[in-house]
Amino acid sequence: MSIQKVAVVGAGLMGTGIAQVLAATGHTVVLRDVVNGKAAKSKENIGKQMLKLIDKGKVTADQRDALLKNIHPTEDLSDAKDADFVIEAITEDEGMKKTVLGELDALVGSDVIIVSNTSSISITRLASYTKRAEKFAGMHFFNPVPLMGLVEVIRGLASSDETIGAVTDLAKKVGKTPVSCIDSPGFLVNRCLIPTLNEACYLLMEGAATPEAIDAAMKLGANHPMGPLELADLVGLDTALAVLEVLHRDLGNPKYAPCPLLRKYVNAGWLGRKSGRGFYKYAS
Ligand code: CAA
Ligand code: NAD
Repeated sequence: MSIQKVAVVGAGLMGTGIAQVLAATGHTVVLRDVVNGKAAKSKENIGKQMLKLIDKGKVTADQRDALLKNIHPTEDLSDAKDADFVIEAITEDEGMKKTVLGELDALVGSDVIIVSNTSSISITRLASYTKRAEKFAGMHFFNPVPLMGLVEVIRGLASSDETIGAVTDLAKKVGKTPVSCIDSPGFLVNRCLIPTLNEACYLLMEGAATPEAIDAAMKLGANHPMGPLELADLVGLDTALAVLEVLHRDLGNPKYAPCPLLRKYVNAGWLGRKSGRGFYKYAS
């Protein structure tokens, strides 16, 4: 199966990174966000990032130009019509994903594979919002996409072997290592990782230590590249909360209950780096 034109739907943290790695490996990318100008801004941010890489001698100006030429930002979903492959990377909200997956299913060719980059939502249930469950799977990239080596390839109940093979091949083509798993809440990484972030929120809420101390402890004591609270800020506190809610509801175990402090921060609009404030403050 030849995949040349990929539609990436959602131009937030993840959609932007996914568009970058696809474009860098010669794919034509239609990058769509509902918010006016957001996809264009994401492309601009990729361009700025690439300038830093040129300064470091890691890419050439020609490579930057070629990469940017491959990305076509839009607000119009119908620009995805002739895509060979679709990656849904919108907000971690099942209702919103249901709507957009229904729209995509009606828009693109019936032989086209649609994948979701969801962090936790059941792939089998997301597939049921389309009429192509056998051509649907999870393709879970990690943040920041250009720097992280893994893609989880998640098999929904009805995903065909051909679909899983094509998703695995695309992950390799963009330079990632695919790891396969069946559909279960949080898949592999987030089932282990997000409860750790939640536990750090509990420590903070209980007044055990400052955010800086909790992060330093996990960096120096467990050799994690980032502390759990700064990592939660990188992931997005809304996304971390949404994952915990899925783990809590779908696994039915109280140990996954989201920390009330995390919920409070999300209610305040303190979503981490992307909103300028989370456990830490960030210059915009
Ligand atoms: N494209 C290409 N290269 C880039 C780049 C980009 N957008 N941004 C930076 N780079 C390059 C830099 O130029 C740099 O190159 P040199 O080493 O040659 O200078 C290199 O990549 C490393 O950049 P940094 O110095 O900024 O990176 P770092 O060493 O400080 O590491 C990090 C940053 C990779 C984020 C590291 O801190 C880390 O691994 N943190 C943990 C991240 C993590 O756990 N992610 C998973 C989150 S959970 C998730 O994603 C799943 C979910 O569903 C929520
Ligand atoms: P984000 O909040 O940065 O971006 C989401 C984007 O989706 C926003 O720009 C929003 O305007 C857009 N959007 C909402 N509805 C849309 C629609 N109908 N069509 C097009 N765009 C729409 O979120 P993110 O961190 O990029 O996460 C996106 C997905 O990737 C989520 O499912 C999330 O769980 C998953 N994910 C996140 C991370 C992470 O660390 N943040 C890692 C892996 C997977």
